[in-house]
Amino acid sequence: MSKKVIVSGMRPTGKMHLGHLHGALLNWKQLQEEYRCYYFIADWHALTSEYANPDIIRESTLDIIIDWISVGLDPDVSTFFVQSAIKEHAELHLIFSMITPLPWLERNPTYKEQLRELSQRDVYTYGFLGYPVLQAADILMYKANGVPVGEDQAPHVELTREIARRFNHLYGEVFPVPDVLLTPTSKLLGLDRRKMSKSYGNAIFLSDGEEEIRTKVMQMITDPQRARRSDPGDPDVCNVYTFHEIYSEPETVARVNEECRSAGIGCVECKKIMARNLVEGMAPIREKRRELEADPERVREIVAQGNRRAARVAGRTLEEVRAAVKI
Ligand code: TRP
Ligand code: SF4
Repeated sequence: MSKKVIVSGMRPTGKMHLGHLHGALLNWKQLQEEYRCYYFIADWHALTSEYANPDIIRESTLDIIIDWISVGLDPDVSTFFVQSAIKEHAELHLIFSMITPLPWLERNPTYKEQLRELSQRDVYTYGFLGYPVLQAADILMYKANGVPVGEDQAPHVELTREIARRFNHLYGEVFPVPDVLLTPTSKLLGLDRRKMSKSYGNAIFLSDGEEEIRTKVMQMITDPQRARRSDPGDPDVCNVYTFHEIYSEPETVARVNEECRSAGIGCVECKKIMARNLVEGMAPIREKRRELEADPERVREIVAQGNRRAARVAGRTLEEVRAAVKI
């Protein structure tokens, strides 16, 4: 039996950080072992909100591909491609737009939330309302069985399922109805204890150098109740400790836990240890990035190869779709 298919994408609106690594990317890497995976750069989706300043899209596209390879996603195993290179996505989006009732889009909770949150940008557009229709085209193009996404994206994938059912009902069974594979959100918070995000300025990027990582770790907010060195701390509420749990040896984690509670260790010392382990843990990612940055031609070839592979599948799907719709 052939492998089941996974599709997921990321909007190229900036560099990848540790939140992406421990949220999406390590999960994507795991999925490679079992599924045929299509991972793509959703540049048209980025355009729905960044249309007035699209430079960031071009800038981050190859950078994100480099991040993907650096963390161990394998372009020979999975297919990496750029959405806008596969024009069939636009055609399928158009066809889906004919059969998608407006209320499905208008009541989408993610849509409503984003209208509120992105108030500094004007996203009251036709394209932005249709965002999940384009996403349905991305997913169904490759006949995905599963879509790994964070909770915020689940309503979009629900809509994809409804569009698949409606299409099949109107024109015959063409699309599998894909499952939402919920990715647990990363436990690593940003430097200020809010969710790690580029726009909050609290992120540790995969491309950060050793010095940057150390400086950022020293700025991290610890247990806010621990005001003085002599106060005992609570590792359970401390983000530095969460980093230790991922990047330090179990003995170190146990010792930090104990000595934090007894005020045996100070936060500065604790951070220094964590920073050292984090720098070391992220070293292979930096190493791989340096290698790829020195060979941009290779990265471009990887994308070109992925685009070719994706285009073949997309071409076949569109033939089937046109035959089913009789147009
Ligand atoms: N909307 C997704 C996000 O913002 C990106 C995306 C576009 C996507 N198309 C997709 C994710 C298809 C999964 C499948 O994160
Ligand atoms: Fe956090 Fe470490 Fe300080 Fe405890 S000692 S509060 S774990 S930084």
